[in-house]
Amino acid sequence: MKEFFSIAIDGPSGAGKSSLARRLAEAFRFIYVDTGAIYRTLGLAAFRRGIDRKDEEAVMELLPKIKIETGYNEAGEQRMYLDGEDVSEQIRLPEISICASDVSAHQRVRTYLLEMQRDFARKNNVIMDGRDIGTVVLPEAELKIFLTASSEARARRRMLEQKNKGIEENFQDVLREIEYRDKQDSSRAAAPLKAAEDALVVDTSDIGFEESFRLLAELVVTRLSPEREEQK
Ligand code: DC
Repeated sequence: MKEFFSIAIDGPSGAGKSSLARRLAEAFRFIYVDTGAIYRTLGLAAFRRGIDRKDEEAVMELLPKIKIETGYNEAGEQRMYLDGEDVSEQIRLPEISICASDVSAHQRVRTYLLEMQRDFARKNNVIMDGRDIGTVVLPEAELKIFLTASSEARARRRMLEQKNKGIEENFQDVLREIEYRDKQDSSRAAAPLKAAEDALVVDTSDIGFEESFRLLAELVVTRLSPEREEQK
């Protein structure tokens, strides 16, 4: 019998995965695992060392030389460490988003980072978000959600999010970055961004955060209650 429950949330950048996953994790007392942060930390390491991120061999050579770790602070927030340094804020910079997308396109890099991700689900009830959680990382997840929204809606949200952090961005620049990453993440050969066959697709273009949360929370309750009953 499976000891822990897993919920996979996949989708393009800016669809609301991380804020919704975080809130669901709080509500259902699961741990939230942001897998994009792992690729971002590797992207940052490659950026700092001036490594060609499109060169799979070069990125593979870097991996054993660095230490990528994940931790949780007292507030239950995931923090990322690169060789012991807390890089949780730096990995959010727009140029690092592109680096993350670049390094994540390599199959061997993805395989290298797979066990680190699966390990969370072996030891905890998890809500994990990313691009290939339902298809590759946790194909046995009890609930798979593919969260999507139009690129314009996602760009508007990303701008608002950045504005709240005091960072002003230009709409066209944000839209361009989102569309560049969508294209690269969906067209790559290695674990491209796509919905698992058994994923429930939720489009949040025209619904706000609270409504999206209610919708997803209902899905969680419906999907997990019978399984929890069976385990009693
Ligand atoms: O979710 P995010 O925007 O923080 O992810 C950063 C990049 O990492 C994204 O462009 C694609 C990649 N990624 C991935 O390939 N697989 C995942 N499971 C998570 C992220």
